[in-house]
Amino acid sequence: MKKILNVALPKGRLGEKVYAMFEEAGFPCPSIKENNRKLIFENEEAGVRYFWVKPSDVAIYVERGAADIGVAGKDILLEYRPDVYELLDLEMGKCSMAVASKSDFIDDRKRTLKVATKFTNIAKDYYAKQGRDIDIIHLNGSIEIAPILGLSDVIVDIVETGATLKENNLVVVEKFLPISARLIANKANFKFKSEAIEKIMLSLNESKEKKDD
Ligand code: PRP
Repeated sequence: MKKILNVALPKGRLGEKVYAMFEEAGFPCPSIKENNRKLIFENEEAGVRYFWVKPSDVAIYVERGAADIGVAGKDILLEYRPDVYELLDLEMGKCSMAVASKSDFIDDRKRTLKVATKFTNIAKDYYAKQGRDIDIIHLNGSIEIAPILGLSDVIVDIVETGATLKENNLVVVEKFLPISARLIANKANFKFKSEAIEKIMLSLNESKEKKDD
């Protein structure tokens, strides 16, 4: 019996682009394009099963082996440090991790800095390297509101186009970490399904290089 490759895709715009790359790599599953609420799609003939999960959950499925491979942002990998193989930088979904504040914020380095973020570990690492005392405020979304309402001095968050910051009258203090989507694999499953995984890896790498030409 042919081994089925389980692939966790990040739900949303990035996931659709990623699926298109997998299709090109020889792992099509046409039913995924049907517009419905289904989350799991299988093509036995091609030996693949896709499932849509929240982007921040991809690494959990892969680490625990429910998915053999998946696509996750470098931000998630640095924040949660899942025990997975990082196989390839897909150079998609590019953005930066940044510190931002209100434009009139003046930092007094003698004071503890209040930092609101979803990325607690990344923020702690960043300020630890500077020897800066911080008070971390963990939020789950709409981080941009925190400095406006005085909940924090700065935020550490993802910036892509900069539109969200601009709309909320915030400015970038420093972009300190480039982020992009990575192909990841479960360590044990990688051994059992190395042929299919390597095929996908090579093909994704080729289509990446084509894009660069
Ligand atoms: C991220 C981030 C910013 C926004 C930045 O949120 O938290 O709010 O994107 O993008 P921009 O620079 O292009 O405006 P996301 O859309 O991932 O959703 P979230 O609020 O659930 O984190």
